[in-house]
Amino acid sequence: MAADGASQVAILRDVASLRAQVAQWRAQGETIALTPTMGALHAGHVALLLEAKRCARRSVMSIFVNPTQFAPTEDFENYPRSLEADAAKFAAAGGDALFAPSVEEMYGEGFATKIVVGGPAEAGLEDRFRPTHFSGVATVVAKLLNQCRPDVAIFGEKDYQQLKVVTRMARDLDIDVAILGAPTIREPDGLALSSRNIYLSAQERAAAPNLHAALARCAFDINSGISIDAALAAAKASIAAVGFEADYVEARDAQTLAPIARREDGPMRLLAAARLGKTRLIDNIAV
Ligand code: PAJ
Repeated sequence: MAADGASQVAILRDVASLRAQVAQWRAQGETIALTPTMGALHAGHVALLLEAKRCARRSVMSIFVNPTQFAPTEDFENYPRSLEADAAKFAAAGGDALFAPSVEEMYGEGFATKIVVGGPAEAGLEDRFRPTHFSGVATVVAKLLNQCRPDVAIFGEKDYQQLKVVTRMARDLDIDVAILGAPTIREPDGLALSSRNIYLSAQERAAAPNLHAALARCAFDINSGISIDAALAAAKASIAAVGFEADYVEARDAQTLAPIARREDGPMRLLAAARLGKTRLIDNIAV
């Protein structure tokens, strides 16, 4: 097993080491939960790990900044990377093994396969602004699930469309895993934790909680009987007033992500993406 000395926890660098570790646990009859991440761990990621530990005897977290889910204009090169600090947080939270492969290990010479998901991946939300993103996510998550073969894999509701895309992909490809969603962890002022929050200036950071506040107000309004269109218009106006440029603020069917016109038509989710200066924030909330 390839283990780094810096922390108590094994850092596995290649698929063979991961499989050897998993095989050892399986031989002992132990169950395994996988939590895929791109690192720069915060309390949201740790909450997923704690959920993983409730679901299975052993918990693996992957840390891989996946190039195929970033568009050329996006922040792949500058995405925060902090493996040592991440390993310390992971160990402190009681995780068992970190899987931190290189790009070469994940995408070897001649790599030529892409998973393209329809349905929730074509809902007209993130996909409208990041057209290649979910193919990159689906491909890397399928690989991680095949590499680790966990009983359960945990994803955050913070990336709600991603959770639906991964669930669809695993079901469609008959991958024998339970995909579980875990609630969004927020700062005390409501801002959803995100590795990208570090990009916000002090002024932007002060305005940022308004995104969640607007969604919460919108959900309240809809539940009070105000029309969905009027409630969404108010939410858009309130975030624009503090400097956000919205990509979308939408009400969707909570399961299929299809557009939904009336509260009575089923459980609903409000989803938004908006830019504050150079930083793009996403958030969502149940109605
Ligand atoms: P990343 O952005 O690192 O997120 C890893 C996991 O943490 C995702 O399931 C995400 O939804 C969850 N997460 C992020 N912020 C959260 C918060 N505030 N509360 C709860 N959960 C939160 O999402 C990815 O990486 C990648 O696309 C990945 C799935 C790893 C594929 O590369």
